[in-house]
Amino acid sequence: MSTQAFGTSSSSSAVTNDGLFELRDLIYEACGIFFPDGKRYFLESRFARRMEAVGVSSYFEYLRYLRQSPQKNEEMKKLIEEITTNETSFFRNMPQFQALQTIILPKIVETKGKAGFKKLKLWSAACSSGEEPYTLAMILNEKLPTLLAGWMFDIHATDINDQVLAKAREGIYGDYALRSTVDYFKNKYFTQQGPNYIITPNLKKYIRFQNLNLYDDSKMVFMKGFDIIFCCNVLIYFDQSSKKKVVQHFFGNLNQGGYLFIGHSESLYGINNDFKLHHFPGGVVYQKP
Ligand SMILES: C[S@@+](CC[C@H](N)C(=O)[O-])C[C@H]1O[C@@H](n2cnc3c(N)ncnc32)[C@H](O)[C@@H]1O
Repeated sequence: MSTQAFGTSSSSSAVTNDGLFELRDLIYEACGIFFPDGKRYFLESRFARRMEAVGVSSYFEYLRYLRQSPQKNEEMKKLIEEITTNETSFFRNMPQFQALQTIILPKIVETKGKAGFKKLKLWSAACSSGEEPYTLAMILNEKLPTLLAGWMFDIHATDINDQVLAKAREGIYGDYALRSTVDYFKNKYFTQQGPNYIITPNLKKYIRFQNLNLYDDSKMVFMKGFDIIFCCNVLIYFDQSSKKKVVQHFFGNLNQGGYLFIGHSESLYGINNDFKLHHFPGGVVYQKP
């Protein structure tokens, strides 16, 4: 991919700059995350941590380690865990969840219900530590006695980062993660233990957590039959070309009539014309026609 340089190098870092661009490109090729010039110092500090951990002192040596060492795959995983941003929270983007409950779910229930197929399949793609898929599970569970009476649902929750997935499976959160969660949901779906909130096992049964790299074509083609995909606050880290590739996969992963939610500050403008754009109060959603 090698595109822009990080600028002329006059780094004060103890290591040489040689190989920095290649390392940046290696990350891009592995997971689609692109670091523009402004992120140079962030990257340098993350590389420094990993280089110290594996005991090398130049970018070239680290490159060689990532390309040739018997531990190269494990190291690439660790590097990706260093450079990904995992910020998330329950009910992060409320207008989206309102639209899901009041507009999208009723529409899908009407269409799929007519066809007699009462099962919903959702995907939280890039779920981080689980707050998003658990929010979806709470919302759908609330609808089981009414709109979703007689329906089943399951939620696939995936991320590239095993550390956040372990936290998601554990389901223990501090109150900052619940800052937008109203008491009704806190009381019904969490047990408080000291400063921690523990998610009820009743919600866990709806969710399957799994490691998945959205940039890995060979895995993405097997994600099939989804009614709703949430892929929020991850495409911002990709460049145009990797966004296009991932979003085209989502198109294939969705059922006809299915919906794709992306982050509040993200857009498919210039990325994909196959989806139909719908507006709702406070946001947009993309539908596979
Ligand atoms: C900022 S979090 C977003 C979490 C949640 N979707 C939300 O909106 O609150 C971004 C997540 O994307 C994941 N990620 C980044 N690149 C990825 C890739 N190529 N495949 C899968 N997950 C990726 C990161 O590990 C991180 O957990």
